[in-house]
Amino acid sequence: MSTVPELLDTRPMTLPRLLDKREAGEPIVMVTAYDFPSARAAERAGVDIVLVGDSAANTVLGYESTVPVSVDELLMLAAAVRRGLRTPLLVGDLPFGSYEISDAQAIATAQRFVKEAGCDAVKLEGGGINAERARAIVRAGIPVMGHVGLTPQTATALGGWRAQGRTAERALELARDALDLQDAGCFSIVFEAIPSEVAAAIHGRMRVPVIGIGAGPGVDGQVLVFHDLLGIRDGQGARFVKRYADLLDEMVDGVAAYAADVRTRAYPGPEHAYSVDADELADFRAALEGMAAA
Ligand code: KIV
Repeated sequence: MSTVPELLDTRPMTLPRLLDKREAGEPIVMVTAYDFPSARAAERAGVDIVLVGDSAANTVLGYESTVPVSVDELLMLAAAVRRGLRTPLLVGDLPFGSYEISDAQAIATAQRFVKEAGCDAVKLEGGGINAERARAIVRAGIPVMGHVGLTPQTATALGGWRAQGRTAERALELARDALDLQDAGCFSIVFEAIPSEVAAAIHGRMRVPVIGIGAGPGVDGQVLVFHDLLGIRDGQGARFVKRYADLLDEMVDGVAAYAADVRTRAYPGPEHAYSVDADELADFRAALEGMAAA
């Protein structure tokens, strides 16, 4: 049975409407997308925010981590997502190395996501100096989403792919980062892989919507990676992933069935072929006979 809501709200999502949702206690739904079909799926499902995540590096480009993906690669994907979206807010992820060097670099990269791909906002990872980069981008008129906790671009420095904020000291650092990003003007912040109680406690100090991924239920919304939630990948993935479909298995089955049909000549059938008028065909065959061999 379809779970697509019958009466979708087709008003474009805005920053004030996200804040209203938080204030009304209405969970905010965010998902990643990387191309036109995934954008259409997100649009039709009625999500609130679509992120062209740098997770594209792993999910669609086959890199080992998010570090190598370039601005140009993400811009091409974001532009395709833009063409498939009307209602959700579109956020483009600034990749590693594209914003950390200076405020000028951060603004220039963010402007490309808005001008060349049509993004409504950008996302960047981490607090500290990156909160200053966020401030600079916000001052340049581009909305920014922050991201704290397990920040994949700097996972090596964080000790690998593991939950963050499991000591009082580290939890306090995360709280400081989140508050710095909020003070810098971020309209929303992603909390990734943070114990639920720690996330809920920091959430209590936030004024902007907090979107969790592996941060428990005590935040304002949730985000999952498209390929994780639909099972378009091998393996289970992180603890926080819930699978709603097993599309990779279905894709393999579909391609295998096609291959078997080709090999047994069951495909193409008459219904897949074009016809030609009998007289035209006879004329053509005669002309072909008379044609000098090359
Ligand atoms: O790149 C990404 O997909 C993300 C989400 C997991 C928040 O940053």
